[in-house]
Amino acid sequence: MHTLYTVEALNAALTPSRQQGQTVALVPTMGNLHAGHLALVQHARARADVVVASLFINPLQFGPGEDLDAYPRTFAADQAALESAGCDLLFAPGAADLYPSGLETATRVHVPGVSEGLCGGSRPGHFDGVATVVSMLFHLVAPNLACFGEKDYQQLAVIRKMVADLHLPVDIEGVPIVRADDGLALSSRNGYLSAEERAQAPALYRTLCAMGERLSAGDDGDAVLLDGHRALQAAGFMPDYIALRDRQLNPVVADTREAVLLAAAQLGPARLIDNLTLTLP
Ligand code: PAJ
Repeated sequence: MHTLYTVEALNAALTPSRQQGQTVALVPTMGNLHAGHLALVQHARARADVVVASLFINPLQFGPGEDLDAYPRTFAADQAALESAGCDLLFAPGAADLYPSGLETATRVHVPGVSEGLCGGSRPGHFDGVATVVSMLFHLVAPNLACFGEKDYQQLAVIRKMVADLHLPVDIEGVPIVRADDGLALSSRNGYLSAEERAQAPALYRTLCAMGERLSAGDDGDAVLLDGHRALQAAGFMPDYIALRDRQLNPVVADTREAVLLAAAQLGPARLIDNLTLTLP
């Protein structure tokens, strides 16, 4: 695996593959890699000739007072993990490479509708930052396909809409959530939890599963959402939102069958998110 730190080096590394007409898959990450990220790399490895991962802690998607400075940086371990997962090229630019005109004045990509509410409601500007950096990576790498985790369900929906609206020539592949044995969705932010909080954390997924069972059995949605809220509070979380939407993140209507339950909740220092797809009766 080769690591490229600049746009020029990335271009030079990709030129031979482009000339040979090889297919390229991109896996964008912010590092501190775990088995969830590596599942994306394996997904990409099975579908393209050349697998490119990017590692860039994107300042534009962090709000004031969020964890940009605290975000875990484990570059050497990430390089080793990517190499053993079969990644060919790691693109690890600096902020000045990606934002030559500076963060404040950088051109932004805004994806209306699907980026509003849920995490977009609690983290203003977050999805503009995500859409901006992902569209840049798409231009720089020009991948045939790009892989994103279903754990960040709204992010995946934002990227799908951006690609459709801007006619970007890239296939977006969603990859299922990878969980710890106790059900907690793997996340770089789990590292912020104390041992006690880590033991409480699986209650987020357990609550979603219990809610999902009731909803699938036809229980009243508002009552289930209220109980879910209370269950999270009782487990030590400060819920940000719990929402039931259709798979495109529109509000559910009478004939919605394919739905998704989404939740975000603060547990000590960590803001955790999770989701569960379900079929309504
Ligand atoms: P990051 O949080 O590092 O996640 C990189 C990718 O890994 C995302 O597509 C995310 O959904 C996926 N992922 C994380 N945890 C996962 C899990 N437990 N199971 C499956 N997939 C998982 O998401 C970002 O970075 C950034 O917003 C980024 C897209 C790189 C733009 O900066």
